[in-house]
Amino acid sequence: MEMIQTRNELIETARLRWITFSSSAESIDEGQEVIYGLKQRQKTLPCRYFYDDRGSELFEQICDLPEYYPTRTEQTILETYALEIAKSTGSCELVELGSGSSRKTRLLLEAYSQLNHQLHYCPIDVSAGILYSTAITLLHQYPTLRLCGLAGTYEQALAQLPAAELENRMLIFLGSTLGNLNEAECNQFLTLIQQALQPGEFFLLGVDLQKPVEIIEAAYNDAQGVTAEFNLNLLRHLNQRFQSNFDLDQFAHFAFYNSIEHQIEMHLKSLQTQTVNLQALNFQVTLQAGETIQTELSRKFHLPTLVTVLSDHALAPLQIWTDPQGWFGLLLCQRQCTTGECP
Ligand code: AVI
Repeated sequence: MEMIQTRNELIETARLRWITFSSSAESIDEGQEVIYGLKQRQKTLPCRYFYDDRGSELFEQICDLPEYYPTRTEQTILETYALEIAKSTGSCELVELGSGSSRKTRLLLEAYSQLNHQLHYCPIDVSAGILYSTAITLLHQYPTLRLCGLAGTYEQALAQLPAAELENRMLIFLGSTLGNLNEAECNQFLTLIQQALQPGEFFLLGVDLQKPVEIIEAAYNDAQGVTAEFNLNLLRHLNQRFQSNFDLDQFAHFAFYNSIEHQIEMHLKSLQTQTVNLQALNFQVTLQAGETIQTELSRKFHLPTLVTVLSDHALAPLQIWTDPQGWFGLLLCQRQCTTGECP
């Protein structure tokens, strides 16, 4: 294996390319983001701190919970329509944002290989551990697959995507992770997607849809308490990262559906008045008994509104699939030409 050191770390073999985007330049800003969130009247913490190795494992467990319908519903839609997607796009490089264990993407790889299309896959994930183990498994499973693993944030990877080796590309964003962005972040994200795609290329998006509140709330308050552990793990991660002393026993998981904003809001409730020291950030925060820190938003979409938002970013839905209950949506969009872009 040839190993090259550049600004980013780059590993190359015949079928595997690997790029790790540096995180050191960002860590100071990250600390400022944590301080900023904890200074707000409604205290917040960035939901990306869920995903250390333990958090990624817990998220995998959430996906298998009986109450957590999004994963299996999206999986069923993909099982039904993967071949149709592959036929619609023709041969193209698959670039997946937040790939995790790539379990749903395997359905697409199967469909493209069934049609004898060349298999090129670029998974992007901040969790390098799961990205690498998945990459190795997939390379064994698909002997002709060429894989380019990008360990970093969406922003880093989308801004520095390696040149496509196939003529067409499809960006894939599954699991309704779009719902974890507020409206402004969502617009910024879709602008990045628009910029990363050439006219004619594709964007495959999976989103959780609005439905009765009991079904949604149960999905974020599971009986086994895995979601609660996932939520609390964020504090453990912060303790490691910023040498803070959050006492996990003094916080409780709290999640409810906000029917006005159409979103789940996940919080950690302080069980007593307490002061927490974030040593590495030289910052202290006091929480009153009963006060909460918001850790996540999970927006639930209305398809016609989403279609308008996508069209505003030159992403035209070609096909939209849902499950029979209309709980989850899968949208295959095509990047349109904007004024002056195409002859
Ligand atoms: C990753 N994301 C789409 C999940 C969601 O449903 O918003 C994260 C999650 N939080 C609690 N359970 C799952």
